[in-house]
Amino acid sequence: MAKDEIKKIGISTGGGDCPGLNPVIRAVVHTAINNYGWEVIGIKDSFTGLIYPDQIMPLSLEHVRDILHKGGTIIGTTNRGNPFHWEKQKKDGSVEIVDYSDRVMENFEHLGLNALVVVGGDGTMKIAQQFFEKGMSVVGVPKTIDNDLSATDVTFGFDSAVRTASEALDKLRSTAESHHRVMVVEMMGRHSGWIALHSGLAGGAHVILIPEIPFDLELVASKLKERRKQGDQYSIIVVAEGAVPKEGEMSMLGKRPDGTVLLGGMGQKVGSALSDMTGVDIRVLVLGHLQRGGSPTEFDRILGTRYGEAATHLIAENDFGKMVALRGTAIKGVPITEAIGQTKQVYPDGTMVKVARSMGICFGDK
Ligand code: F6P
Repeated sequence: MAKDEIKKIGISTGGGDCPGLNPVIRAVVHTAINNYGWEVIGIKDSFTGLIYPDQIMPLSLEHVRDILHKGGTIIGTTNRGNPFHWEKQKKDGSVEIVDYSDRVMENFEHLGLNALVVVGGDGTMKIAQQFFEKGMSVVGVPKTIDNDLSATDVTFGFDSAVRTASEALDKLRSTAESHHRVMVVEMMGRHSGWIALHSGLAGGAHVILIPEIPFDLELVASKLKERRKQGDQYSIIVVAEGAVPKEGEMSMLGKRPDGTVLLGGMGQKVGSALSDMTGVDIRVLVLGHLQRGGSPTEFDRILGTRYGEAATHLIAENDFGKMVALRGTAIKGVPITEAIGQTKQVYPDGTMVKVARSMGICFGDK
């Protein structure tokens, strides 16, 4: 397709929301209109707008005015929106799983779309790849607070989540110190400990438990005792929701319809067990969806803008099946397949863990 044959493109945001989605949408709209004169439409709630085409919205420069600093996404999202495995509500209230992928392909044609920018995490990128293989002209943009997508150094949303989590630790420190208490803070991140590690380091945590380093609570209890002996009567323990005890399993709240696990509860388990073991006054806090909310940090606004701009140029170059990625300081187009092959996890022997250990932070393994 020649550059001047492209007339209209769509954009969708899928999976859990995060700060930085609106800067991406704004950048795609500006780049498409200012550089190429294309029309842009927003596909609402991930792929829902391609199943029910009344669920779309025009995106002009006017529509994206004043959204750079806003959290969430103006076109909506869902993490239950896989057209290949769509949960169709039947009249009797029961749910039937249907494959709506052909319907999506047809509506893509009917809407006169020449390409689609898909913004999402690994689940959404897998769907984008499946549509690419069906013949849709797709480019991807990596999003998630978890920072667990391979092929890119960073996903946008991560920096904002780390900011929120570190600010929470700053606030908890004063109350923990005043009451001579231990505060256990559970953080998101699925099977990767990036948010826990980075915010724990930025927020001065004394213990950080992450999925990549299975923990032994006896060692954590010893760390608390050692701190008390040194005269430090309070401690901050960060627990990633996917953290795993050496002898035990991850803590799950349940399973999603697509089979993925909903993690949660490890903070409470750690807090209760430590309280029994040490007799210390412990309080547990689950930061939860606070980490996905609020205004994007400057870093995420700029990264989102760079990603959106680069993704639009990929369309002009007919470079489909690619995802934009940050490599060092450059934005590159990489095959979507590279991003979805493997979850990006913290290296237990990597620099960040080493730095944290030098700061005296305990990971519950020694
Ligand atoms: O992937 C982002 C994320 O916030 C994870 O950190 C968390 O495990 C999950 O989504 C929560 O999903 P939900 O929005 O379904 O509660």
